[in-house]
Formats: sequence, structure tokens, C-alpha cells
Amino acid sequence: MSLNKQTIKWLNKNATSLSNKTILITGANSGIGFKTAEVCLHLGARVIMACRNQSKAEVAKSSLIKDYPDAKIELLSLDLANFSSIDAFVNQIIDNKIDFDVFVNNAGVFHRPGEKTADGLEEVLGVNYFGVYYLTQKLLPYLKSLNHEVVYVTTISMIHKFAKKINYNDFFFEKQYKNVPVYARSKLCLAKYTYYLSQKYKETNIKFIMTHPGIAITPLGVNAYGKKVGKAAKAIKWMFNSPEKSSLSLIFALSHNVSAGTIVGPNKLFGGWGYPKINKIAKKVKEGADKLIEFTEKTIKERI
Ligand SMILES: NC(=O)c1ccc[n+]([C@@H]2O[C@H](COP(=O)([O-])OP(=O)(O)OC[C@H]3O[C@@H](n4cnc5c(N)ncnc54)[C@H](OP(=O)(O)O)[C@@H]3O)[C@@H](O)[C@H]2O)c1
Repeated sequence: MSLNKQTIKWLNKNATSLSNKTILITGANSGIGFKTAEVCLHLGARVIMACRNQSKAEVAKSSLIKDYPDAKIELLSLDLANFSSIDAFVNQIIDNKIDFDVFVNNAGVFHRPGEKTADGLEEVLGVNYFGVYYLTQKLLPYLKSLNHEVVYVTTISMIHKFAKKINYNDFFFEKQYKNVPVYARSKLCLAKYTYYLSQKYKETNIKFIMTHPGIAITPLGVNAYGKKVGKAAKAIKWMFNSPEKSSLSLIFALSHNVSAGTIVGPNKLFGGWGYPKINKIAKKVKEGADKLIEFTEKTIKERI
């Protein structure tokens, strides 16, 4: 493990210190979330890893401690595919007055046809969008009560730009499941919701921003397409961003103190790879949030 030379060089040039900062990262046991935790530790932050599988979280924590023996790392349990687990997670934060400066909604899934959340929603939309929406709504009063700035980050994907107009008559692709359009819709919804919040809470202590990692070979795709494809992808991984490079979108956003509603992602190949920069926000991200939120609230009410 440990960070590679190019990353350190980039960090020396572009990153500000994160000492005295606490960064909470969901899905921090794997892929980009894990590397985000490592980079944050390197920059002096205290890290809270919110993971659904506590054994995986313990393994990830131990491996970080090996490289950063003085690291301050805490673990929390969170399953975004289960509204009760989200309730328990938020209650734990409130009851224990767990403080953080940055909350990174990194956890996500891709291409799980037929899989449902505990509350019966299609899993990709259920975790990537509904889980994050529900978590955010529950957490908002607590975030408002903190007497310092909180940067609230959602992890979208460059693919949100290619998502088709939302069809509310077949929101969950029940007629025909298509893996990429489902994922793209989940990230477009997340982007619309985050942008909406960024405008609504502009004058408050909560700053909503978005990052995306480009394309990186992580368990996300391997879990979806299987080990054979995973092996092939690993052979050409030099064509993609490393999870480490992908994690720099967050560091860029924090170090440049980007304004509310900003999207940060890689600078090359339509955002597929490279070092981070501020991205242009597509018109479709800025439009139609009211209808989406109305639909989301109704769907959640039916499921609880
Ligand atoms: N890799 C890419 O090219 C790419 C591109 C665009 C966007 N992204 C986004 O980047 C983020 C990180 O993805 P990654 O590539 O690093 O994938 P990853 O290695 O598979 O990491 C995903 C993380 O999310 C966790 N997770 C999955 N379902 C969850 C649930 N129900 N509740 C809580 N945590 C859950 C996973 O936990 P387990 O380890 O227990 O499964 C894992 O820790 C995701 O939001 C993804 O959509 C990735």
C-alpha cells in the first residue's frame, strides 16, 4: 500500500493540510473510498469509516494503521440498502454528538439486476439515490445544528451526463432492466438532488458539492461483471484512473474551497481520467428537482 510518488507530488502542489479536520467517508473499506481515507490520513485528518460490513471495515482499518500508526480512525455501521440501518446510523451520530467537517457519500453499487433493498426498491437506485436521499434528509437537522461549516459531498459519475430524461412511469426500469441506464439514472437523480440542496442551503453552514472519480478499476465493476471481466479489466487498468488518482477529486474540492453546487472530476476524456478540475454542470442537473423530490418522498413513504 501507501501512496505513489505522483500522488505525493500532486498533493504537495495542490492540497492543503487536513489536520484538525474530521472526514466521514461511507463505503471506505474498498476502492475509491479506501484510497480517499488513506489520502485524508496522509494530509493529517481524522477519519470515520462508515461501512456496511464490519469485518471488511476492520481489515481496511488495520491496513491503514499499518502505514499510518498514529492515525485516528473510527468505524460506524451503515447499510444504505436498509432504511432502518440508516435510521440507526443517524441516531448514533446524533446521540453521540459525532462531529465531522466533511461527510463523503462515497458508497455505491452498479449493475445488480434483480437485487432489491431491504425495503423492496431496485438496488442500484435504492442505494445510490434513495439511500443517500433518506440519509441526507434525516441528517439535515443535525448538520444545521453544528456550529461550523460542514462540506457535504455526494459521489456522482460522469455517466450522469448521458442519462436519459427521467421516465416517472418506469422509474425503476421494471419493463426492461438495462444496467448502464439504471446506474446513470441513479447518479443523475443524486446530482439533481445535491444541486437542489446546494442552492437551498447556500447561506447556511452546510456546503453541498459533488465529486466524481472518472473511471477506475475497483470491485464496483468486478462485482457487477464477474471475475473474468475483472481480470481483463485489470490487464488494461493503465487506461483508467487508479482509485488513488480518483480519490483526488475530493482533495481538490476541499483544497480549492469550491463553491456550493460545484462538480469536481478528472480533466481528460470527458471526465474519464486525469487529475481533477471543476466540471461544467449540465442543464439537466439544474432542472426538475421538485418533481424528483415529490416522487422520492412518495416512494419512500410507501416503503416505510
Ligand atoms: N469505479 C468507477 O469507475 C466509478 C465511476 C464513477 C463513479 N463511481 C462511484 O464511486 C463510488 C465508489 O465506488 P468504487 O468504484 O470505489 O467501488 P467499490 O470498491 O465497490 O466501493 C463501493 C463501496 O460502497 C459500499 N457499499 C455498497 N453497497 C452499500 C450499501 N448498501 N450500504 C453501504 N455501503 C455500501 C461497498 O461496501 P462492500 O465492500 O461491503 O461491498 C464499498 O465499500 C461509488 O459511489 C461509485 O458509484 C465509481
